[in-house]
Amino acid sequence: MKGIVFSEFLELVEDKFGLETVEQIIKECDLATGGSYTSIGTYDHKEMFEMVGVLSDIQNIPVQQLLEIYGEHFFTILAKGYPQFLEKNDLFSFLNSIDNYIHPEVLKLYPDAELPKFDAAMNNDKTEMMLVYRSSRKMSSFAIGLLKGAATFYNQETNISKIKEENNGEIVTIKITLV
Ligand code: HEM
Repeated sequence: MKGIVFSEFLELVEDKFGLETVEQIIKECDLATGGSYTSIGTYDHKEMFEMVGVLSDIQNIPVQQLLEIYGEHFFTILAKGYPQFLEKNDLFSFLNSIDNYIHPEVLKLYPDAELPKFDAAMNNDKTEMMLVYRSSRKMSSFAIGLLKGAATFYNQETNISKIKEENNGEIVTIKITLV
């Protein structure tokens, strides 16, 4: 997983919970990296779960909730860094472009990026989208956070929920309803 995912996480932790929490996480985790990441480096995504796990114990906030909060924040980082990927006019057109445009372009930029697959299907009057997330990294809560971040960016009120989990979280069906 790209270093930007880790370094932005530790920056957010420092902002929200202070430097001492970052230091405690790095001390309590057995990180091969020692907690220092370069944004374009590539690291084991398990280090992410280890750090979120310790933060969850410290702050008594469930891991999935923390991943969602971080996903929503990470979207603002992506939006600032890659405005060219957010030129679609509305939320659903944007979400439809993740798998056939955005992530493939990311792969050209970072050939060793580990990206999830998304299958999108909309209902007839385009008020609801089913998004099937597929990834061996099981970060569907991070995906839901990114989706919430995208909805805020497009100023679109939505209900976003996980409606089915398969293969122990490798395949997750997410329903997005426009409100
Ligand atoms: C709402 C839209 C998006 C969703 C739901 C989404 C979802 C995800 C998820 C869940 C991951 C974590 C890896 C995994 O689960 O296997 C990921 C990684 C990533 N995404 Fe997206 N993404 C979105 C938009 C974007 C945009 C606009 C960019 C712009 C550059 C982007 C770039 C990346 C990058 C660089 C990674 C890290 C890959 C790595 O660490 O190897 N994504 N995305």
